[in-house]
Amino acid sequence: MGSRETWATRLGFILAAIGSAVGLGNIWRFPFITAESGGAAFLVVYLLLVAFIGLPVMLVEFVIGRESKQNVVDAFPAIGYGNWKAIGVIGSITGFIILSYYSVVGGWVIQYILGSITGAYTGGAEAYFGQVSSGLNTAGFDLLFILLVAGVVGFGVRDGLERAAKLLVPSVVGLMLFLAVYAATLPGAAEGYAYYLSPNLATLRSDALAILPAAAGQAFFTLSTGVGVMITYGSYLDEDRSLLRDGFVIMLADTCIAVLAGLIVFPVFFAQGIAPGDGGIGATFVSLAGAFTTLPGGRLIGTVFFVILLLAALTSAFSILEVIVSFIIDTTGIERSAATAGSVAGIFVVGLPTAFDLKYLTVYDAIANNVLLLLGGLLLALFGGWVYATDAVTEFSKGLNAPQFVPKLWIWVLRVPVVVVLSYVLYQNIADVIQTIQTSLL
Ligand code: PFF
Repeated sequence: MGSRETWATRLGFILAAIGSAVGLGNIWRFPFITAESGGAAFLVVYLLLVAFIGLPVMLVEFVIGRESKQNVVDAFPAIGYGNWKAIGVIGSITGFIILSYYSVVGGWVIQYILGSITGAYTGGAEAYFGQVSSGLNTAGFDLLFILLVAGVVGFGVRDGLERAAKLLVPSVVGLMLFLAVYAATLPGAAEGYAYYLSPNLATLRSDALAILPAAAGQAFFTLSTGVGVMITYGSYLDEDRSLLRDGFVIMLADTCIAVLAGLIVFPVFFAQGIAPGDGGIGATFVSLAGAFTTLPGGRLIGTVFFVILLLAALTSAFSILEVIVSFIIDTTGIERSAATAGSVAGIFVVGLPTAFDLKYLTVYDAIANNVLLLLGGLLLALFGGWVYATDAVTEFSKGLNAPQFVPKLWIWVLRVPVVVVLSYVLYQNIADVIQTIQTSLL
C-alpha cells in the first residue's frame, strides 16, 4: 500500500471530504433538478433525504473505511466480508460513468471561464450555452478537464489541493453570498423565492412520492455517497474521531452551498423571465452568464466564480478517479501511472457521446444517479444494517461521545427506512430510466 497517503491534518480530512461533496452537483445539478421537479416541494423532500437517507449511508462508508483502513475494493475482505466486494465493483463502475460526463460539464466550466474573460457570452447567454455544450470544442475541453484531474492524481499535487481546499470553501461561500445578495435586488427575486422556498403543503402531500426518485439520486450524488469515495476517505481517520460529527459537518456544508446556489439561480430565472421548468440541463449556466452580463464588473466576477467552480469540480472529480484507479490497481496489479492513464483514456472515450449530444448526457446522468448510485446506497444500507451491524456499532461508537441509543438508532434507520425508501425509489427509477432511454435515444 505504498501509494497510501494520510491527511496532513484533521482539518485536511474534513476539507477533502467537503471538497468531494461540493462540486458541480451543488451548483449545476441541484438548481436545475429542483427547477424541473417543482421547486420548494422538491427542496423539502431533498433535505429530508439528505439527512435521513444519505447521511446514514455515508456513515456506513466511514465505518467500513475506518475499520478496514483500505480503499473501496480491499475494504470488504479486510473486515471479513469478501463477498460484499461487489459493492466496490459497482461503485467503481458508477464512478466511471459519472466521471465520463462530469468531466464534460467540467469542460463547460473551463469554456465559461474563457467566455467571462473574453466577454463571449455577453452577446447571448442561451446561444453561448449551445456552443459550449456540444461539439468538438466540448470534447476538447472535456479532455482538458480529465487531464487536469489525472495530473492531480498522477503528480501527487494532492497536498496542494488540500491546501487549496482550505481557501476554496470560504471563497465559494463568500462569492456565492455576494451573488445571492445581488440576486435579491433583481426584479424577479420575490417570485423566485416563492417558487424555491415556500412549499405548498397540498402539493407536497400529493407529489412527495413522485419527487422522491429525483431527490434521492441528487442526495447521493451531492454527498458523494454510494460510490465508495467516503470509504477511501474514512480509511484515513483516527479512532478518536466522531464519525457522526464529521459526517454531519460535511452534510451541512454541502447542503448550505446547494441551497445558496438556489438562492442565486431562482431569482435570476424569474428576473430573466425563464420559466423554471424550461431551463433544462443548461439552466444554471445560462442564468449565471445572464447575471454576469448585467452585473457591473460582471466579467471579472464571472471569471472568479467559474475558476472557483472549476476547482470545486476538480476536487470532486479527483475523488472519483481515486476510486477507479485503486480498483484497477487492485484487480490487475498494474502500476499506478498506467492505471491512471488507462482509466483516463477509457473515461474520455466512454464520455464522448455526451460531449456531442445533450440527450446522451441526460441518459448517462439518469443511469448513474438514479439507478447505480442508489443501488450502491441500498447495498451499503443492507450490508451495514443487517450483515455488519454488530461490528459497525462498535466501530461507529469509537470517539462518538453521544448517548448509547444513537448507534442503535442509526442501525435501525438503515435497516428499515433507508432500505424501504431506496428499494421503492430504485424500482421507480429503473422504469423511468428505461423510458428516458426510449424517448431520448430511440
Ligand atoms: N458530490 C459531487 C458533486 O456534488 O459535484 C459529485 C460526486 C463526487 C459524485 C464523487 C459521486 C462521487 F463519488
